[in-house]
Amino acid sequence: MKEQLSVLVVGSGGREHALGWSLARDPRVKKIWFAPGNAGTAALGENLDLAATDLEEVAGWAAKEKPGLVVVGPEAPLCAGLADRLRELGLRVFGPGKKGAQLEGSKSFCKELLVRQRIPTAKAGSFQKAEDAVRFSESLPCPQVVKADGLAAGKGVVIAESHAEAATAIRQMMAEKVFGEAGATVLIEEFLEGEELSLHAVTDGKNLVILPGAQDHKRVGEGDTGLNTGGMGAYAPAPKATPDLIREVKDRILVPTLQGLAQQGIEYRGVLYAGLMLTKSGPKVLEYNCRFGDPETEVLLPLIETPLWDLLGAAADGNLSGLAVKIRSGAAMTVVLAAPGYPAQPVLGQAIQTGRDLPDSCLFHAGTKRGAKGIEVAGGRVVAATGWGKDLKTAKERAYARAAEVDFDGIQYRRDIGHRALGTTQ
Ligand code: AMP
Ligand code: GLY
Repeated sequence: MKEQLSVLVVGSGGREHALGWSLARDPRVKKIWFAPGNAGTAALGENLDLAATDLEEVAGWAAKEKPGLVVVGPEAPLCAGLADRLRELGLRVFGPGKKGAQLEGSKSFCKELLVRQRIPTAKAGSFQKAEDAVRFSESLPCPQVVKADGLAAGKGVVIAESHAEAATAIRQMMAEKVFGEAGATVLIEEFLEGEELSLHAVTDGKNLVILPGAQDHKRVGEGDTGLNTGGMGAYAPAPKATPDLIREVKDRILVPTLQGLAQQGIEYRGVLYAGLMLTKSGPKVLEYNCRFGDPETEVLLPLIETPLWDLLGAAADGNLSGLAVKIRSGAAMTVVLAAPGYPAQPVLGQAIQTGRDLPDSCLFHAGTKRGAKGIEVAGGRVVAATGWGKDLKTAKERAYARAAEVDFDGIQYRRDIGHRALGTTQ
């Protein structure tokens, strides 16, 4: 009998649409549910009216439907313990449990592990009292970095150019609680200089499958200017991620991280996503994420030739050692088309013309929903126009050709994704 595979993808962003798209290309996969999904995922399977962070709601549904695999996309449900809750039900789950997810959910947990394992990272202190934090800040040169310990949707990091700026950030986080409990503990960190690289590894807790190095563009404006966002575009492989660099990161960073987790009795099955700074003295960890990056996923998945079901399923089973994972040659790029006013105050609700599908490209939906006007803008990052091909230049042409098909009132996107790798003229 032919296998009939079913999978639940938790989340509703471009990452989850890309996960669903990749799983759906596998003829064995017969059913995909999304909790809650978006207008793009609705075309691949069934969107469920479940909140990703409502553990009991998701667990109640999963206990009844028993999907063959659950892939948890975002960090919030992982940090809340969704993977543990589903494993208790006997389900196969891709994503770390609550303890492992602290790598992203608590910057001080992460920093302690890095220091204990002698993994290269910025020097830092962690504080629960504002006056201690200020004293430490004054002992460090500027610029320096002030970070809220907990999850703050990518906003809890302030690069302070002066001690006065650092003191203000400390006060806002600790006394004014602008990030709520996430800022009850703060880290004050040495500023690292260099280029950033996102390195994703799929792991079963013991073995690592390292995916191509990716780079994203966090700033809203061209030339990497303006406010920080969730990410305005990405590409892979990043030319900086040479085989030698990847080997170094594996040996000095990823393997010791898994060993450190194992020493604490944590079995980590999911994505270990290292946010690295490539400094003059070698790669250093800026942060860990406990899930696939967004928009990095949109460029990594088109490059994985091995069926995603096999890769994620083997990691969920603790059984990656037997799997030979194939990565395609060539490159991929994605451009995020954002709502007007994003990231400060995105304007939502307008109708979206999604345009024609083109070869070697895909339009991944992020903040979209079906409404009275058809497909409507429902989030700051609306869609991610993605292209792939023999090299980055071709991938860029295809991503931008797909982007040009899309229209909605106030559409904004960067025209310079990939400039670090391609220069500004291509
Ligand atoms: P994080 O959430 O810790 O990755 O921080 C978000 C962003 O802040 C990073 O992607 C970097 O651009 C920047 N950043 C964080 N830590 C540092 C650091 N120690 N030195 C320089 N930039 C940093
Ligand atoms: N693209 C950055 C992130 O997913 O955290």
